[in-house]
Amino acid sequence: MDRKNILLIGFMGTGKSTISSRLKKRLNMREVDTDALIVEREGMSISDIFAQKGEEAFRNMETALLKELESAHDLIVSCGGGMALRDTNAAIMKAAGTVVWLTAEPETILKRVKNDDSRPLLRGNKNTAFIGELLEKRRPKYAAAADIAVATDHRRVDDICDEIIRRI
Ligand code: S3P
Repeated sequence: MDRKNILLIGFMGTGKSTISSRLKKRLNMREVDTDALIVEREGMSISDIFAQKGEEAFRNMETALLKELESAHDLIVSCGGGMALRDTNAAIMKAAGTVVWLTAEPETILKRVKNDDSRPLLRGNKNTAFIGELLEKRRPKYAAAADIAVATDHRRVDDICDEIIRRI
């Protein structure tokens, strides 16, 4: 039987990729990472896309990709951290499957993103004040797009997956 897609949303560093690959194994579903797919298709890193084509162009790529996934099934979709920002994307995501919002405190996020320079929005902004501010600005968007919210601070990956599996 076809299973409903599971879409993981949330701020950078909330563990979407890690949870996605564990859920994939545990549920025997396929996995798509929207950032990775965009990088593959464009033949450019996310940072280069932002620098050369602009954030708006990147957001358009995200929306186009989401529309392609709407008719899929059995997929875990790890969404880029800004996917829920457009209200139109939120509607497409709801139609595409169960939307799981992974949350984390700014301190946890900072620890997870500290040594990774792949995120243009955090370049030169790796501190809890910036992360906390952007998180608060985005919170209503994530909340509106999500079916459920799951906290990831100080928890083991399998415990987080247990909760997701139990609640979806
Ligand atoms: C972004 C998050 C990134 C990536 C891009 C923009 C955002 O994905 O899509 O750098 O606006 O939050 P991750 O959440 O996987 O880091």
